[in-house]
Amino acid sequence: MLEDDEQVVAWLSLEDYKDRAAYSITAEVSVYVDAARRRRGYARTLLDHAIAKAPPLGIERLVAVAFGHNEPSIALFAAAGFEHWGLLPGITRLDGRPADIVILGRAVGA
Ligand SMILES: CC(C)(COP(=O)(O)OP(=O)(O)OC[C@H]1O[C@@H](n2cnc3c(N)ncnc32)[C@H](O)[C@@H]1OP(=O)(O)O)[C@@H](O)C(=O)NCCC(=O)NCCS
Repeated sequence: MLEDDEQVVAWLSLEDYKDRAAYSITAEVSVYVDAARRRRGYARTLLDHAIAKAPPLGIERLVAVAFGHNEPSIALFAAAGFEHWGLLPGITRLDGRPADIVILGRAVGA
């Protein structure tokens, strides 16, 4: 979590990507910043911290899952070295319409 004036303004989480043992080297990263406090570098600060802290936790790969139209998120992860690892076309519904999911990833360890 990132606090500004004693208020939580951003958070990042690392979760198991899947609970099967073979996936134990991979974590899914999610990050959210208060809408009124975006473009101040908060997400990048949290993401760089997570990238640095992941290897000592045994994490070798980070993945992020985002809507295909979520340009801020895709730009954030690209700027932090994530690559496009996958597309899941139309697997969600937003306002009744199919929406794509993209999977972004990067190596952080071996
Ligand atoms: C995506 C999100 C986390 C970015 O947070 P942020 O604090 O505004 O991002 P930062 O200020 O750290 O931006 C870092 C870089 O990301 C990219 N970026 C962030 N927002 C962007 C936008 N609206 N348009 C284009 N690029 C953007 C830029 O490369 C930026 O670097 P720059 O400001 O030097 O150009 C924020 O918009 C958010 O909370 N969105 C809703 C939740 C979400 O989509 N989370 C991601 C799914 S896990």
